Amino acid sequence: MMDLKGRDVISFRDFTREEILYLLSLSKEMEEKTHPDLLKGRVLALLFFEPSTRTRMSFESAMKLMGGEVISFADPGATSVVKGESLRDTVKIVAGYASAIVIRHFLEGAARLVADTVDVPVINAGDGSNQHPTQTFLDLYTIQKTKGTLEGLTVGFIGDLKYGRTVHSLTYALAHFNASMYFISPSALRMPSDLLDGLTKRGVKFKETTSLEEVSGKLDALYCTRIQKERFADPIEYGKVKDAYHLSKAALNQLDVKDDLKILHPLPRVEEMDESLDDTPYAVYFQQAHSGVPVREAILAAVLDVKERG
Ligand code: CP
Repeated sequence: MMDLKGRDVISFRDFTREEILYLLSLSKEMEEKTHPDLLKGRVLALLFFEPSTRTRMSFESAMKLMGGEVISFADPGATSVVKGESLRDTVKIVAGYASAIVIRHFLEGAARLVADTVDVPVINAGDGSNQHPTQTFLDLYTIQKTKGTLEGLTVGFIGDLKYGRTVHSLTYALAHFNASMYFISPSALRMPSDLLDGLTKRGVKFKETTSLEEVSGKLDALYCTRIQKERFADPIEYGKVKDAYHLSKAALNQLDVKDDLKILHPLPRVEEMDESLDDTPYAVYFQQAHSGVPVREAILAAVLDVKERG
């Protein structure tokens, strides 16, 4: 068993291939067997400074399924943050109430700051446009389950690659598994250059394009993302790109795609994908969202070092 006790989960940069595979196998174990008393007596604090449905509720479900308790806020406006309390003071207090902290924050680096401030494990549930590592674990879990492997896949990323933190985390992760990547976006929403430099240094083969049609036939998986309206400083700039892509069953039928293509999306979706795709064999995004529960059970069990599984 790999020792991840006390580990913070802040960025995929911090995880080795072996640690990733270990957490994915533990996720499978969590999905196949219930562990109703595993986290009995433990308390998880959920601090959400940005909206969430999937991440917050699946962490809550995971903790409760393992016998633990949850304390949370989803509206910082109802906390002493509005009186001017700093993030560091807030989390120093919460660390005295909980065995681990999950935080989503609008500022890049906020989760790292919290991890540097408290002694309990800190899990990043999304920091600005930077990283969303637990989403990436469930993305990898879904890819592994639906494609039968993580090794050597050709993966397309389409949409908002500039601000999409789930894309940023997943590219780091897939670099461990010899993936080839196609980045499909309007030029204003290209992948950040420092991330592309990092992929180049790691020997990852990738290509940037504005056209899905140009590359669709090569893809084993297509990872779609919403244009992140809330990250734009200027609404006029958002208006220029908001309709850049619209995936539908009819649009897909016009493209050359592999029969076993899988389409993932971290959700929520808005303009970029419509419901007509949902009943196609390509769509795995609801399965992806539901795997958030066993995957987050595994992460919590690992960082809280609960040994009596099996
Ligand atoms: N995928 C994801 O992070 O969804 P939520 O914003 O609903 O948590």
